[in-house]
Amino acid sequence: MKNIASIEDLRQLARRKVPRAFYDYAASGSYNEETLRANRADLEAIKLRQRILVDVSARSLATTVVGQKLASPFILAPVGLLGMQHGDGEILAARAAAAAGIPFTLSTMSICSIEDVAQATGKPFWFQLYVIKDRGFSRDLLARAKAAKCNTLVLTVDLQVLGQRHRDVHNGMTVPPEMRIKNIIDIATKPAWAWSVLKGRRKTFGNLAGHVKGMENVNSLAAWTNQQFDPALNWKDVEWIKKEWPGKLILKGIMDPDDARTAVKLGADALVVSNHGGRQLDGAASSISALPPIADAVGDDIEVLFDGGIRTGADAMRAIALGARACMIGRAYAWGLGAGGQPGVAKAVDILSKELSVAMALTGTKSIDDIDGHVLVGGEGKKKKAATRKKG
Ligand SMILES: Cc1cc2nc3c(=O)[nH]c(=O)nc-3n(C[C@H](O)[C@H](O)[C@H](O)COP(=O)(O)O)c2cc1C
Repeated sequence: MKNIASIEDLRQLARRKVPRAFYDYAASGSYNEETLRANRADLEAIKLRQRILVDVSARSLATTVVGQKLASPFILAPVGLLGMQHGDGEILAARAAAAAGIPFTLSTMSICSIEDVAQATGKPFWFQLYVIKDRGFSRDLLARAKAAKCNTLVLTVDLQVLGQRHRDVHNGMTVPPEMRIKNIIDIATKPAWAWSVLKGRRKTFGNLAGHVKGMENVNSLAAWTNQQFDPALNWKDVEWIKKEWPGKLILKGIMDPDDARTAVKLGADALVVSNHGGRQLDGAASSISALPPIADAVGDDIEVLFDGGIRTGADAMRAIALGARACMIGRAYAWGLGAGGQPGVAKAVDILSKELSVAMALTGTKSIDDIDGHVLVGGEGKKKKAATRKKG
């Protein structure tokens, strides 16, 4: 990890170390990848205001999200199949997050199960729920997350049907990998990956196998999702989950102010402005362009989180300036994991935190609450909008 300077370095290393099908699974967006590209392009188009001669010797990245203290404004987003980027990937990422003082969110579609992560880390983590047709199974998952002492539930609301990723189709992406000649040759050139996955505790979806009927025979993620995820999911289900779940509730996948207002009405503690990293509705707006109208619509009624395209500390500053309280990161740490296991995830968080700290210094800001519209070119004289981020 010594010569790694950026998230881009981690991506390139992950590409060399992780089998093609799993690297592509993480890097891809849906369909023509218009939204995937827009997430990055629109972030890069936002320019920061360089300020000078402000005493920035004492800077803090600390903040709070849903009442929890974070050492820096980052949260590891739910990412399916982390255990296929590196053996026991979920456990390694959870450990790296705990060491960095930020939350880790375990996906429903993880390789290590809720219980594996709880037992191996002994630290609280967040759990992300996909609601499937069998509501009894969703209720069981919630009970398992409660028993594992997860204090925060992230309910993902933008994937009741699956956006297609063309590269997954081309690669015949399955879990565990199908033993086609092409895959065998690929895996043979990635011995460190093969060894880590071989000695990892699971090779399939840990939360589902043995719990969902038919799961044993379905190894194509896309096929299983299409069979099981419930296109009938609606706001009434959110009310039901709110009743079932005693902890904090975060709705992830909100891109529209009207939906954000409904989330407030239903009493969610936070929402994540997210288009699933450009993996669902292709042609959707970039998540950074969706953020300001949502932040304006909800004011300080709910905490607003953000994800989509965060690759640098400057990106996090842009999102916070436009109304986010903290940023979820997805690919940035998945690449870290593929590149170097737990130290790779730690490196990803460290890179982003250090870059944000430098961006704060060079924009004359000392705390996360200081970051608002006035750090952006064109935002001169903008009133602090701290009220929108100060709940919790
Ligand atoms: C490989 C991969 C798998 C993902 N799996 C899930 C998932 O299981 N549940 C979920 O809510 N979001 C999932 N997401 C979306 C992320 O939580 C997050 O919204 C997205 O990665 C943010 O964009 P970024 O990767 O550009 O940071 C996944 C994203 C990626 C890249």
